[in-house]
Amino acid sequence: MPSCLDIISPYRDKPGGLIEAYHAIQRKYNYLPEEAVSEAAKVFGISEAQAYGVATFYSYLSVKKRGKYIIRMCESAPCHIAGADEVLKALEKELNIKVGETTADGRFTLELTECIGQCQATPVLSVNSEPVFDVTPQKVPEILARYK
Ligand code: FES
Repeated sequence: MPSCLDIISPYRDKPGGLIEAYHAIQRKYNYLPEEAVSEAAKVFGISEAQAYGVATFYSYLSVKKRGKYIIRMCESAPCHIAGADEVLKALEKELNIKVGETTADGRFTLELTECIGQCQATPVLSVNSEPVFDVTPQKVPEILARYK
């Protein structure tokens, strides 16, 4: 398994390399582990505070540990009207976490998202980047079971 340093090093001399490196790390781990931020500081010759500053500046980067599967419930109006709130409650109950949290086994993180362009089949959620259509509270256990 490649280390954080192996993943970061190829971006050293590229324009915007730090952000690209963080993206590559996040594709692998779903978040930026502490080790990645300190390795990035060394590779790019900046202070750890600067590397951390970049890691926390962009909303699409996360330094908070996230699960293997990131479930994002769409909260935009069409999904909201179609019952996204009830689905969200079912997800929280089934996973035993609140939005923004990760299950104790590190499997799932629950987040919210804006419209993902699939309004023909509301309510919609995504698991990592895969959309799941016409979700109901009743379907939640079966959906989660696919990712065990
Ligand atoms: S509003 Fe939810 S996918 Fe468009």
